[in-house]
Amino acid sequence: MSATDAATIAKQQVARAAIARVQSGTVVGLGSGSTAAFAIQYLGERLQSGDLKDIVGVPTSFQSEVLAKQYGIPLATPNDVDRIHVAIDGADEVDPAKNLIKGGGAAHTREKIVDCLADEFIVVVDGSKMVDKLGTTFLLPVEVLPQALAPVTRAIAAMGGQPTLRMAVKKAGPVVTDQGNLVLDVKFDNGIDDPAALELALNNIPGVLENGLFIGVADVILIGEIVDGQPQVREA
Ligand code: 5RP
Repeated sequence: MSATDAATIAKQQVARAAIARVQSGTVVGLGSGSTAAFAIQYLGERLQSGDLKDIVGVPTSFQSEVLAKQYGIPLATPNDVDRIHVAIDGADEVDPAKNLIKGGGAAHTREKIVDCLADEFIVVVDGSKMVDKLGTTFLLPVEVLPQALAPVTRAIAAMGGQPTLRMAVKKAGPVVTDQGNLVLDVKFDNGIDDPAALELALNNIPGVLENGLFIGVADVILIGEIVDGQPQVREA
């Protein structure tokens, strides 16, 4: 099994385990990214088979909205629902306290709205996402209003971060978020010492929409791994 195949199988396995926990008659937050995409597919399959009934999905991005429509999942926005029973979403880093870095897909602003609203937030990752300290393997995404790019970049640098504007692939220019904004990926030498304080400090910079630190939001971490050639899911 190649490393790529193993990672895909781990993502599929963990997505399936999370969707197995969804019950009929619930509102489900639909995450973004490649692992969440498998979860949306499996949720659609359970709906279509009749195994699940009366599900409403709340997408966290254009990607999850398109996928959910493709799989026939009825959709709503956070404005339309009184509560979200469960949200299932991926992450880029997970620390031992279940704090996360998200935003690898530039969707963290809407993801934070939906994931924070959910009664239960289930994170679905493969084992490579588990870290001892946030910010050591992944840069921290910060969504910024285009008009404030220069002052926000300076403010983050003054806080000790090294921001880089995220550039698009197969499109000239920067990544533009679903909300029409830009993303700075910020490096912190030696990782992030106080994630809770940094989350607040970054969001306090005028022009910052949201950053990818999810502190105290995750309830359950499901980790997909290949052990002795066999896919397994464990809970952290
Ligand atoms: C998108 C996200 C994703 O959930 C995160 O990047 C993980 O993605 P993947 O499952 O593809 O590794 O935060 O903004």
